[in-house]
Amino acid sequence: MSARVIINIGELTTNDPSLGDGSVMGRLTNAAIVTDNDHVVWVGPSNDAPAADEVVDVEGAAVIPGFVDSHTHLVFAGSRSDEFAARMAGERYDGGGIMRTVRATREASDEELVRATRERFNELRLSGVTTVEIKSGYDLTAPGELRLLKIARAFSEEITLLGAHVVPAGVDRDACIESVCNEMMPAAVGLAKWVDVFCDQGAYSVDEARAILTKAQELGFGLRLHGNQLGHTGGVALAVEMNCASVDHCTYLTAEDVALLAASNTVATLLPGAEFSTRSPYPDAKSLLQAGVVLALATDCNPGTSYVTNMPLMIALAVREMGMTPDEALFAATVGGAKALRRSDVGHLGIGAKADVVVLNGATSLDLAYRLGSNVVAHVL
Ligand code: NIG
Ligand code: FE
Repeated sequence: MSARVIINIGELTTNDPSLGDGSVMGRLTNAAIVTDNDHVVWVGPSNDAPAADEVVDVEGAAVIPGFVDSHTHLVFAGSRSDEFAARMAGERYDGGGIMRTVRATREASDEELVRATRERFNELRLSGVTTVEIKSGYDLTAPGELRLLKIARAFSEEITLLGAHVVPAGVDRDACIESVCNEMMPAAVGLAKWVDVFCDQGAYSVDEARAILTKAQELGFGLRLHGNQLGHTGGVALAVEMNCASVDHCTYLTAEDVALLAASNTVATLLPGAEFSTRSPYPDAKSLLQAGVVLALATDCNPGTSYVTNMPLMIALAVREMGMTPDEALFAATVGGAKALRRSDVGHLGIGAKADVVVLNGATSLDLAYRLGSNVVAHVL
């Protein structure tokens, strides 16, 4: 066993309430943490730290668990910066640009897609992300979606088939659903863990999404849903009905949606990069938390609505625009993301957790929200 001890941690956030100050953030000062190859094995005062094969002295820096980015579309080709510029000039996002990325992605070679995905993956990693979910969804043919899943699989285990992203113009809706259910999904068994549907205006209806998710469930996939991004479209209620692990966006919510979420096992994953980049209203995270809804924060990295690979920036937006405290936002970007992926081994640094340790440049995790756009993350250990 190769053990490593990280000493002189000025502020250690473990997200384990049995450690440190007893708060949900499980916080310690002047702390140390010992990891073996893969797992946390000891947490306590720096002065009491046991000996280990390797000693890392972080000289008073803050340490947090690695971020869990539970929603990305990393595998794509091309750019849609012109659409962003048009939106900043007043145009509305309606999902219409998705097919532009589909065309660019279909044309790209495997090598080009691997390279582009690796660049974005590395950027996420530098921003402190240690677990990332990656969706397909930019080919929309059965062999093409399979190709994207295989590329994604080289980067993560949290892979999602989003064959039901949009119905391409000129393609029969029923034929599309048939292809998702009877071609893509059976071929994705063992490759993808999740099935996602874009259930919204201009994409799939609630009834169509229900049929697709029901088939996905029969085949043993976990369920996720893009819901209520463009309006009050019933996606949140469907996600709760289907016991989805997560419903993502939640830009438009009714009081009934909030009550349903609060009484469910479905995490509401908020994607402030999408509200920023589409000039949409930010959801009110504060009232969601007050109602008892479990929240995750994710980047939604994609070329249409959120070309973002920076989790601290998501935390800053959540604090500034959505009413979350810095601790609530950090919790949502770690534990929240883990819950959205139904994982208990990541998102925290309790004993037995995966040793995904992020060292910050400053002495406090408040810097994540405070030092907007800075390089707040020093190392990912
Ligand atoms: O999460 N809304 C659906 N899917 C993506 C955007 C897709 C695109 O515009 O390329 C999202 O926002
Ligand atoms: Fe998305």
